[in-house]
Amino acid sequence: MSTVAIITLAGDLHARVIRRQLQEVHGVEVAVVASDTLSAAGGLTWSNVAGPAPTLPTEDGGVLDVADLDLVWWRRCHGRPTVPDAVTDPQMRKLVVKDNRAGLRGLLLAGFTGTWISDPYATERAQNKILQLSVARRLGLTVPRTLVSTDPAAVRDFARAHGGTVIAKTMTGLLGTSLEAGRVTLESLRDDDEITVSATVYQEEVPGTDHLRVMVFGDAVHAARIRSGELDWRLAGDMEVEPVAIDERLADRLRRVTVRLGLRMGVFDVKLRPDGEPVFLEVNPQGQFLFVEGMSDMPLGEAFAQFVVDELARVHRRVPA
Ligand SMILES: Nc1ncnc2c1ncn2[C@@H]1O[C@H](COP(=O)(O)OP(=O)(O)O)[C@@H](O)[C@H]1O
Ligand SMILES: [Mg+2]
Repeated sequence: MSTVAIITLAGDLHARVIRRQLQEVHGVEVAVVASDTLSAAGGLTWSNVAGPAPTLPTEDGGVLDVADLDLVWWRRCHGRPTVPDAVTDPQMRKLVVKDNRAGLRGLLLAGFTGTWISDPYATERAQNKILQLSVARRLGLTVPRTLVSTDPAAVRDFARAHGGTVIAKTMTGLLGTSLEAGRVTLESLRDDDEITVSATVYQEEVPGTDHLRVMVFGDAVHAARIRSGELDWRLAGDMEVEPVAIDERLADRLRRVTVRLGLRMGVFDVKLRPDGEPVFLEVNPQGQFLFVEGMSDMPLGEAFAQFVVDELARVHRRVPA
C-alpha cells in the first residue's frame, strides 16, 4: 500500500479533502503533517546511530515513519507557527521556528526517496514573480508590461507611459494580511519615500472582466473562467465561475512554464483581454483550487487525487542523500 504525506498548515481544508479522497476512493494511506505546530508536538526524530527510525509527528497525534513514504505533497510550510508561551524571548521564538522547519526539511531531504509534489526548493524559487514573468515570456506567453522598482523617477516614467494609471502589487504577500493588487495614479506616486521603501511590481492594466484560473496537475490541465467586474476577483462578491476549454497552445505553454520552474503542479492566474488574448499574471506553485470546485462543480478534488495516484504509479526511488 502506498503512503503519502501532506505537509501543510494545521486545519488545511485542501489536505482534509484530498486525504479523504485518496483514502476512501483510491485506498492510499495518507498522513498529514502540520508544519506550523511542530513546536511542542514531539515525534520529530532523526539519528545516524542504529536505533530510532526517522519520524515526524502527524496532525492527529500519531507518528509517521519517513522511510515508508512514497510521495510527499509539499503544500504549505510558511504559516505563522505556534511556539509555547514559555519561550518569551522574541529571538528565541524565531530560532524555535527555524530549527523545527530545518528539522522537518532535513528529515525529508536525507530520508525521503520518493516523489515530491513539488520539490521544496523549486517551489520556493518558483514563487518569485520576476522569475515567473521572465520564464512565461520566454515560453511564448503574453505578459503585462511590468516594472519592478524602488526608483521614484523610473516608477513615475512607467506610469506616465501607461496613461498615468498602473497596477501596483507586492512581490510576495503575507499570510493574514490583505494587500490586493490595486490601481495607482501619477497623483498618488508623488511621495518618493513611499516608492523607495520596498520593491514593488508595477504593471500595465490588462482590461476586461474575464479571468482564468488554470490548474496544471502533471500533464492534466483544468481551466475555470471567473467573471467579475472587480480588478482583483478575490474582492468580488458577485463572481461567476465556470469550466472552460482552453486552446491546446495555451495549455501547452502553461505546462512548459510548470516544467521549466521545476514544478509538478501550478495554479495559474491569467486574464483574458477583450480581444480574447490570454495574459499570464502569475503561477502559484501551491495555489488553492477547491474554491473553484465549490463554485463550479468541476471535480477538482478527484482530479487532484487522480494526479497523486498517477504520480505514485511512476515513483522512481532516488538514491538517499
Ligand atoms: N496587470 C494587471 N491587470 C489587471 N488585473 C490585474 C493585474 N495584475 C493583477 N490583477 C488582478 O489582481 C489579481 C491578483 O494579482 P496576481 O498577479 O494574481 O497576484 P497575487 O494573487 O499574488 O496577489 C489578479 O488575479 C487579477 O484579478
Ligand atoms: Mg493571484
